[in-house]
Amino acid sequence: MAGIVLRLGSEGYAIHVGRGLYETVLAQTLVGMDPARIVLASHPDILELHGSRLEDALRGMTAGDTSMMHFTFPPGEENKSLLTLERGYVALLEAGVTREDVVLAFGGGVVGDLAGFLAASYMRGVRYLQVPTTLMAMVDSSIGGKVGIDLPGAKNAVGCFHQPVAVVSDIGVLKTLPQREVNSGLAEVAKYGFLYDVELLSMLRIWESERSFEGTAIEKIIARCAGHKAEVVRQDERDVIGIRALLNYGHTFGHALESACGYQALRHGEAVALGMMMAARAAEMDGMAAGGLLELHRDVLMPLIAQVEAPEGLEVEVVLRRMLADKKRGRRQRFVLLEAPGEPRIVDSLDEDIVRRAVEEILRETWGMER
Ligand code: GLY
Repeated sequence: MAGIVLRLGSEGYAIHVGRGLYETVLAQTLVGMDPARIVLASHPDILELHGSRLEDALRGMTAGDTSMMHFTFPPGEENKSLLTLERGYVALLEAGVTREDVVLAFGGGVVGDLAGFLAASYMRGVRYLQVPTTLMAMVDSSIGGKVGIDLPGAKNAVGCFHQPVAVVSDIGVLKTLPQREVNSGLAEVAKYGFLYDVELLSMLRIWESERSFEGTAIEKIIARCAGHKAEVVRQDERDVIGIRALLNYGHTFGHALESACGYQALRHGEAVALGMMMAARAAEMDGMAAGGLLELHRDVLMPLIAQVEAPEGLEVEVVLRRMLADKKRGRRQRFVLLEAPGEPRIVDSLDEDIVRRAVEEILRETWGMER
């Protein structure tokens, strides 16, 4: 098992990565927190697959003194909404949940963000644990306390920072993850590789040749990403000095792609994979990066999106309009670009023609799309 400590001033928390962790560190952590009630926030598919193992482990440790309630909602970004949040508040209130209790966010990025925000805001804040069940959530979204919901047309428009008491990533659950979800998580792994750690890209390639969730390779990859994330959050918890913002590599393009597809056709990591290739192309066109950067991105990322079909109705013009719409709304259009692998920079303005050509070229190469 790998244990990473995320230090935040005089406080901090542990990020555990390994196997069999529900029965060990998770149960022990909960015993230490001594809640009267555990709110298991999840979605039905995850509960069906892994809920009984989790609940048995918790019951075993808490010797029946702690009651458990479920708050479930359907999977999908469209459910990271005010409506789901309101349902959550009502469910907790009706069950008499107090600030002494604990919310356990058991799922992928959507569950972690929504359950984390529910915990942050209900009764002015209750303690919560992140127990991620997707690769993407294990390497990125469960760490660092960014929680929130979407508003129509505006991803993550409402939220706050609320750090969990611990993050427990049990890789035993990854075996049931659909292939596209695995690839989506690997795109986030690649992001850490491009930003900070070229060796991680080699580890990713070697793992991909076998794609085994047995052995230690996947644990090492997740722990290494979690270590990078923890260090970034330690330095810039509130995302104000431009260090945490680097984690948005590929996201300015990626969010526009997700939005142009209505958040349905592309997984987050798939959009970010395309976005990182667009960013690499833009960095080359801008002259900031030497040639070869896009080639490296293609080698790593193309296999991860090879089985993804062109989203119906996706048009270059719509992607560009979404980027422009963000700009008009007053959101600064910042791009994270690489001068070279391991050398990221934030660029506050990028020539519109370069943006257009980067989007056009990557969509054409990937799906043969003309404008
Ligand atoms: N996923 C980006 C961040 O946590 O800042």
